[in-house]
Amino acid sequence: MLVLGIESSCDETGVALYDTHKGLLAHRLYSQIELHAEYGGVVPELASRDHLRKLFPLLRELFAAAEVPFAQVDGVVYTSGPGLVGALMVGAAVGRSLAWAWQVPALEVHHMEAHLLAPLMEAQADNEAALSFPFVALLVSGGHTMLVKVSDFGDYELLGETLDDAAGEAFDKTAKLMGLPYPGGPALAALAADGKRDAFALPRPMLNRPDLDFSFSGLKTKVRLVWESLDEPDAQKADLAASFEQAVVDTLVAKCRKAVRVAGARHLVVAGGVGANRHLRASLHQAGLKEDFQALFPAPEFCTDNGAMIAHAGALRLAAMQAQGELNSANSQEQPARIDARARWPLDELSPFQPPAQ
Ligand code: KG4
Ligand code: ZN
Repeated sequence: MLVLGIESSCDETGVALYDTHKGLLAHRLYSQIELHAEYGGVVPELASRDHLRKLFPLLRELFAAAEVPFAQVDGVVYTSGPGLVGALMVGAAVGRSLAWAWQVPALEVHHMEAHLLAPLMEAQADNEAALSFPFVALLVSGGHTMLVKVSDFGDYELLGETLDDAAGEAFDKTAKLMGLPYPGGPALAALAADGKRDAFALPRPMLNRPDLDFSFSGLKTKVRLVWESLDEPDAQKADLAASFEQAVVDTLVAKCRKAVRVAGARHLVVAGGVGANRHLRASLHQAGLKEDFQALFPAPEFCTDNGAMIAHAGALRLAAMQAQGELNSANSQEQPARIDARARWPLDELSPFQPPAQ
């Protein structure tokens, strides 16, 4: 089954063609980072317009790269949420319209489910049986910080999430405070490499609580107070960056260890932009060696937002529906012409499914 996937939930336009037998045929990604840089964060209206501007050129490139004609596509899937509604509507409208025109089924994909299942796409490509259910996923990006137990396809349990800022957001805001360029996470991490990690005593938020939730706004405020009290900010910047990074990493690692134990899992998968942080990677790897779990990091291109993970997750669901003889009802010609874009979409509203063995 050949499936076209479209991602447009935030500031990345992604498209991909995924074949349930052959795997990923091609994918294309356009990042709007430069567009939003001067505002220091994503501007939703600008994001929507840019998705509209880039989506069709990317689709043309995608089909040329994969060397398949439109007529071979068996289904179209698109991110329906959670995300920025205006941005989602672009992908949803284009996806539904293409499915309508090509007379194939269309299906909405949950953005976080796509992140959770992305490591399976890679495991399949590498012929690796390394990853098995149940596993724990840490999703850490500019918009999310959550720990999820993945028991099976569509069977997800939210173990914990941030009560305020996402980890990436805390990195970005702290970096902005220090005058570093947007998005600040990578710049702050680079600065931290030259600093002393114990130079400043910063809080490790939520570690004294039994649950698996996170909170980063108190830490962010504390860093601001320290920053404002520095005598020589330029000379002390690297130390403060290193102390901040250490506080975030300590918090994430402690909650991940607990989550793996609670879930009875052997694998921890890390997805999202903050997963690129080297200190976090090394610390999770060390924790895994001590406590007998393996920390897995998907390739950066499939870790951050992309179209391939959407095509993959949607293709698995469509294939499961086809195997159950349910695909007719998903045929776009028989569905009301509707476009679903959801700002919020709790993961536990998803239904379990069983993709056929390939
Ligand atoms: O998954 P992602 O690309 O998508 C969005 O959230 O849109 O994540 C981006 C986030 C940003 O907050 C960025 O600053 C952060 O990931 N990030 C990092 C690093 N690389 C990216 N944070 C800390 N250390 C890094 N090396
Ligand atoms: Zn994402």
